[in-house]
Parts: sequence; C-alpha cells; structure tokens
Amino acid sequence: MYVPPKLVTNKDLEKLMDTSDEWIRQRSGIEERHYVEGPEGPSDLALIASRNAIAAAGLTPENIDMIIFATLAPDYYFPGSACLLQNKLGLAGIPALDVRCQCTGFLYALNIAKLFVESRQYQHVLVVGAEVHSTVLDFATRSRDVTVLFGDGSGAVVVSPSPDEKRRILSMHLHADGAHTDRLCIKKPGTLGTDFISEVLIDEGEARPYMDGRYVFKHAVTRLKECVDEALAANRMGIGDVDWYLFHQANLRINESVANAMGIPAAKAPSNIQRYGNCSAASIPILLHETVASGQIGPGDTVCLAGFGAGFTWASAILKF
Ligand SMILES: CC(C)(COP(=O)(O)OP(=O)(O)OC[C@H]1O[C@@H](n2cnc3c(N)ncnc32)[C@H](O)[C@@H]1OP(=O)(O)O)[C@@H](O)C(=O)NCCC(=O)NCCS
Repeated sequence: MYVPPKLVTNKDLEKLMDTSDEWIRQRSGIEERHYVEGPEGPSDLALIASRNAIAAAGLTPENIDMIIFATLAPDYYFPGSACLLQNKLGLAGIPALDVRCQCTGFLYALNIAKLFVESRQYQHVLVVGAEVHSTVLDFATRSRDVTVLFGDGSGAVVVSPSPDEKRRILSMHLHADGAHTDRLCIKKPGTLGTDFISEVLIDEGEARPYMDGRYVFKHAVTRLKECVDEALAANRMGIGDVDWYLFHQANLRINESVANAMGIPAAKAPSNIQRYGNCSAASIPILLHETVASGQIGPGDTVCLAGFGAGFTWASAILKF
C-alpha cells in the first residue's frame, strides 16, 4: 500500500467548511485522511504500492504479465491509468486494463485476475486499486457531506498460481444494479449532452460529486449482508468459519451495522477508516495489506472481502491464506 504523506485531520477541514470533528467522527468514524500535494495522480500512488506488492510476492516487475487498475478517479479521461502505470513500471508490451467499478473496483479487478490466472493465459497479474479524490472534492460547505468522507491512497496485490492447493481464492461473487446510478456520481466531464464540460455545468454542480447519503447507507448495509451470506453459502460456511471480514471502508457505522446484524464479532472485522477515510477502490487492498503486515492475518486463515459502491455495485471474495 501507499498513501501520500500529507495528513489532513477533521480539524483541518473545519477551517475550510462548516463542519466539526465531532460530527465527522460520530457519523463516519473518520479522524484523518491523506491528500496528494502537487501533481500526483493515482498511477503515481499505485506505482509505489505496486513495487511493494511485487517485492512482497518475491517477484520483480519483469515477472508481471498483466496490469489491472481499479479507479474511479483516473489520471486522465483517457487513456486509462493502467497504461500510465505500465509505463512507470517500465513494462511496455504487457496488457493494461482499467476497471471502473468505484468502491467495488478492487474486487471486480481481483475476479478478472483470478480468471486470467486460472485459464493460464497469464501467470502473474498485478491488481491495483488507487484513487486521488482530493483534487476532485469541493471544499465549500455545500459539499461537506461528501468531502469529509474521502481520502487518497493505493493498494496492490499480485495474483499468481499457488503451489499449495489449499491457498487460493475460493470464490468471488460480483453484482451491480444500474437503477441507482444517479444516487452517487460525478456527471461531468462526460459525453452525455451537448457540453463535455462548460462553466455553466461547473456552476450548476455537475462536476462535483453527488451523493444521496442516507439512500446509499441503507443500500450498502443490505447489499453487504446479502453478499456475505451468498459467499458463505457458496462455500458451505457459517459466520464462524471465516477468521477475518475485511469490508470496504466507506463508513464505520455501515460496517458495524452489517457486523451486528450478522453476528460477526467486532474483533473479526477490523477497520482503518479512522486513518484513511474512504479510499474507494484502494480501501480493501490497504486494509488487506495492514492486516497481513501486522500479522493479524496469517497462514491458514480464511478471509472474506466485501464491498459496495457507486453504480450501485457490490461484490465479495473468500480467500484462503
Ligand atoms: C454521509 C453520511 C455520513 C451522512 O450521515 P447522516 O446521518 O445520513 O446525515 P444527514 O445526511 O441526514 O445529515 C444530517 C445533518 O448533518 C448535516 N451535515 C452533512 N454533512 C455534514 C458535515 N460534514 N458536517 C456537519 N454537518 C453535516 C446535514 O446538512 C444535516 O443537517 P440538517 O439536519 O440541518 O439538514 C451518511 O449518510 C453516509 O455515510 N452515507 C453513506 C456514504 C457512503 O457510504 N458513501 C460511499 C459509498 S461507497
């Protein structure tokens, strides 16, 4: 994983908009987040996370056969951030694919990597989730409900064939429901309509993130529960068969609601949203990195990943370490 060094506390945000440390902590659990400084895009953050992941896998960049890059905030409108990252890693020639599934993007990307590896088309697939939200956010009070929630960061893994039959991705389930696209979105710049972007559209708020917070919250809780149930049933497991539940970090209260409703002990569902905010596609791999690096997740552990995001999209994975 990698996050940029600049730390932004809730108190720092109080100076920019009408909000409070107390409100942000109570409603979301977030205490601080990291922002880029200067011209850094998600591919720059991803470069450091990718190098770390490749080294942790005992590989060198030349061993990587494919890059899959999940982001909702790409460096450019086009081409995708995967191509930028590929160039920065010096891996000209290998395929580079962007995945646009927002906070569920890492799980979609992981599933794509799994299939490429299982089909033996590629051996080592780099999967990255990276976001620079801070340059898109609006720091006026009108956008405080969204702005306080998000941070910048990146996380990466390498998906490879396992020599140990027991250590594998046991299952993945992906879902989406496009009926809810307008409840969480940034519409401009975009090709729908006559103007790709214009001052009028910017003034009208079309280039700012929009979120119907309560609506998103309710759907997130329902869908996360559903997809954990689905993952457990597919593996003939009960709640107690999974050692760790790593949920997307959008709001501490969302994850607490899911854990309480399902009887998942709080100690089995760690969170780091307090320190990073919502890093969208990067949140799950950052949490995965921290729980593995700290020794919490160890060999033999069964881990459930689950996420929900704009689209709406939601997904799960069960991994055996
Ligand atoms: C955004 C969210 C934290 C808001 O919490 P909430 O309890 O629903 O709060 P509401 O939106 O109802 O707002 C309550 C009040 O707080 C105010 N408020 C909103 N943001 C605020 C902020 N940053 N600081 C202070 N007050 C704020 C509102 O204006 C409202 O004031 P009012 O009652 O005078 O109108 C919550 O809805 C949420 O987390 N939703 C899901 C977000 C999410 O997961 N997004 C990403 C999905 S991947």
